[in-house]
Amino acid sequence: MAKINLSVVAVGLTLLLLAETWAQNPRKRLAPPKPPKAQCCDELRSLKVQVANLTSLLEELSRKQETDLMNVVRQIMELDQQNRQQEARVTEAESKYSEINNRVEIMQLQTLQSAPQTSSDATYDCAALYSKSYKISGEYKLPKDDFLGTPELSVFCDMETNGGGWTLIQRRKVGLTSFNRDWKQYKSGFGSIRGDFWLGNDNIFRLTRQPSTLRIELEDWEGRTRYAEYGFFTVGNELNSYKLFLANYSGNAGDSLRYHNNTNFSTNNKDNDKCVDDCASLRKGGYWYNCCTDSNLNGVFYRYGEHTKNSDGITWYGWHGSNYSLKKVEMKVRPMGFQP
Ligand SMILES: *[C@@H]1O[C@H](CO)[C@@H](O)[C@H](O)[C@H]1NC(C)=O
Ligand SMILES: *[C@@H]1O[C@H](CO)[C@@H](O)[C@H](O)[C@H]1NC(C)=O
Ligand SMILES: *[C@@H]1O[C@H](CO)[C@@H](O)[C@H](O)[C@H]1NC(C)=O
Ligand SMILES: *[C@@H]1O[C@H](CO)[C@@H](O)[C@H](O)[C@H]1NC(C)=O
Ligand SMILES: *[C@@H]1O[C@H](CO)[C@@H](O)[C@H](O)[C@H]1NC(C)=O
Repeated sequence: MAKINLSVVAVGLTLLLLAETWAQNPRKRLAPPKPPKAQCCDELRSLKVQVANLTSLLEELSRKQETDLMNVVRQIMELDQQNRQQEARVTEAESKYSEINNRVEIMQLQTLQSAPQTSSDATYDCAALYSKSYKISGEYKLPKDDFLGTPELSVFCDMETNGGGWTLIQRRKVGLTSFNRDWKQYKSGFGSIRGDFWLGNDNIFRLTRQPSTLRIELEDWEGRTRYAEYGFFTVGNELNSYKLFLANYSGNAGDSLRYHNNTNFSTNNKDNDKCVDDCASLRKGGYWYNCCTDSNLNGVFYRYGEHTKNSDGITWYGWHGSNYSLKKVEMKVRPMGFQP
């Protein structure tokens, strides 16, 4: 652009000079006779010099511009590099932070394991840990308790949401763990406690022997979140097919577990639903299938783009209907009337 302008100026100047020369010509014709050839050549020479000067001026100007441009580019590159250095510093800080966090978690586990356990202060859930001042969310190892007849168990505690004290019983967020599993696997639990998992029906039964609250947190692929809470939640033991009982819904996601109230648990090899269809096989999970679903939190994890095309996804009809598979789910319990 600037270069074009300069050439326009140059052409303009050249024209001006030519015009001047042209204007001078009549006078020069009146001047004492000179060899015409020499006159012409003098003028030509002077024009040539001027053109040469202009050309060199132009070159100088454009060189200067290029230098300016180079300077700007250099500055941009420097800024870019500073940016990158800053980013690297942030990343480093983040990884240091999570390392420290991990160490804190390990310390928590160790303190917990060395703490003497008696039947009166049994620590069999995250609410009990919270009362003992473990207030950082993360993985904890609950010790074996002969009095309660409970085995050692790794749990993930949410010590922040709505007062904390929550023991997670399920999580979906990574999508690599299949939830299309059999009765035995749903009984004892599967997956990884920091990723996707089912805590196990026997463990959920034990946790909810004390009157408990269930909280379900959902996130869609646009990053929006909703929750459903049931003031009362319990499941039966294996003899009772882990039958679900809930009451007192609150929240903003819709009451999509109510339809599953009072139904037995089903898996792909144990059809306990209230339907001619085999819901666990149709919906590809283990759940309290009725006929079949108003929610399917143990369904198939579908990634963005694939998440609206199937009816066996991770669904909550009360929010996104029957064919929208959610991005993230957490199910968590704590004793009714828990006081932070
Ligand atoms: C051309 O440049 C020379 C030296 O750079 C200078 O002496 C001369 O006066 C210039 N002529 C014009 C017409 O600008
Ligand atoms: C539901 O909430 C009401 C009012 O708070 C309470 O009286 C009732 O006991 C609760 N139901 C259950 C099953 O906890
Ligand atoms: C649930 O399972 C129990 C036994 O585990 C059975 O007696 C009951 O009929 C079942 N209920 C339904 C609705 O299938
Ligand atoms: C579940 O069923 C019981 C009756 O068995 C009822 O008292 C309770 O309110 C129901 N829960 C919900 C959320 O509707
Ligand atoms: C949901 O997906 C099924 C295929 O799995 C399709 O038959 C059905 O029409 C879809 N329903 C809606 C409401 O998009």
